[in-house]
Amino acid sequence: MNGRLITIEGIEGVGKSTNLEFVADWLRQQGKNVVVTREPGGTPVAEEIRSILLQPGRQLSSECELLLMFAARAVHLEEVVRPALCRGDWVVCDRFTDASYAYQGGGRGLATEMIDELKSRVQQGLEPDLTILLDVPMEVSEQRRKKRGGTDRFEAEQLAFFTRVKASYLDIAAAEPERVKLVDASLPLPQVQQQIATVLENFVSDAGSELHK
Ligand code: TMP
Repeated sequence: MNGRLITIEGIEGVGKSTNLEFVADWLRQQGKNVVVTREPGGTPVAEEIRSILLQPGRQLSSECELLLMFAARAVHLEEVVRPALCRGDWVVCDRFTDASYAYQGGGRGLATEMIDELKSRVQQGLEPDLTILLDVPMEVSEQRRKKRGGTDRFEAEQLAFFTRVKASYLDIAAAEPERVKLVDASLPLPQVQQQIATVLENFVSDAGSELHK
């Protein structure tokens, strides 16, 4: 597979959508073929699973939630991500398995071993090449979340839940500094995007030298 998988992560209110578009545009300007997609979602079946997962008021056990995330991921990898990587495209994915560790592991308290097991079955060794973790202080996330008035199943969670999710994301970034690049998303947008551009420049030049080895 000659393509690259770049994932964008972060808790609610970090400015994921705007910055995801920035990443995709930046790569297109470098002449890459870019596929923008998201999890849970990205295929008709996975989008249906997404609507179950996000439906406000829907009662789901944490284990069911995790299994649905991986069911959506399985079909998304098979139908969208792997074919794109085989074509040599650059896939920019709004969230991926780090979100399962952060939300279902950290947020819901599910055992990491269960997530590890599903990950190895579903991903068969496929990992993101680069993950951009957008981080803001809890207060900023809370303000933005409340202002937006989001009401999906996750947005309806309380501060303590998102505090655990954020802590899990930061643990992942600390454990895998090569793959996961932390970006301070509380700064004004041009400065956030400058940080992202630097991450991408470094990544693209490393990816280029790898291809020519
Ligand atoms: P978003 O894509 O609009 O941010 O919404 C997706 C929600 O799903 C978000 O609250 C995080 C959550 N999520 C998980 O809990 N686990 C996962 O593995 C993924 C991909 C997303």
